[in-house]
Amino acid sequence: MKKNRELFIAGNWKMNTSVTEGVKLAEGLKEKYGNIKGVRLAVAVPFTHIIEVGKVIKGTSIELAAQNMNENEKGAFTGEISALMLKDLGVKLVIIGHSERRHIYGESNETIALKVKAVLNAGFECILCIGETREERESGMLEKVLKLQVESALCGLSTDEIKRVIIAYEPVWAIGTGLTASKEDAENAHKFIRKTVSDIFDESVAQKIIIQYGGSVNASNSASLLSAENIDGALVGGASLSVEKFSGIIDSVIA
Ligand code: 13P
Repeated sequence: MKKNRELFIAGNWKMNTSVTEGVKLAEGLKEKYGNIKGVRLAVAVPFTHIIEVGKVIKGTSIELAAQNMNENEKGAFTGEISALMLKDLGVKLVIIGHSERRHIYGESNETIALKVKAVLNAGFECILCIGETREERESGMLEKVLKLQVESALCGLSTDEIKRVIIAYEPVWAIGTGLTASKEDAENAHKFIRKTVSDIFDESVAQKIIIQYGGSVNASNSASLLSAENIDGALVGGASLSVEKFSGIIDSVIA
């Protein structure tokens, strides 16, 4: 426990693995971490994997997450997935606003705010992803971008709702590139995000909110990054696709 905040490591499988491969991966994680203590663990799997992976990890310490969700309850939205559809399947958390959703699929801060609200209304926890592009960082816009992303998604949430929000700071330039933010840069961003949450709500809410770091996290940089005061966990992409690599990260922080 760091500053009374539990460490939280989540794997984001993105659009990877067949269902069979995903089940095998989940079985491997269950074998090692089915009863893990001292760190919260989740896997955000493709929609097609939720039922089968859900069966594998049911009753274990590993939590089931979805990678996206539509903001509407139901209707003519071909190809989309609603809260109701996820609700019965053991999903606890939903990732919203991942940079790939923002940048490849054009999701705006406004859409993301609606999605966050829909996720919370359905009773799930929300992992809200935020982060700047390289151009934004280099042109001195880092804080402005993060503040806007946090404020637009979280302003107006009730004190009960904000308790079910986890923020993942994922600098876009660090995702899938092997370029991890330095511990210092990541810590500075996390500190700023926590301050922004404090300004919107209050210091007690800000001290409780979990802020994960994401972007080329691996077993060699995880312990150092997560030792920073305001970094409470990791959202892991590529390295969450192998039991060995993901274990390296988990073991580095529980050791
Ligand atoms: P990588 O760990 O592959 O850089 O991906 C990070 C990420 O986007 C997690 O959501």
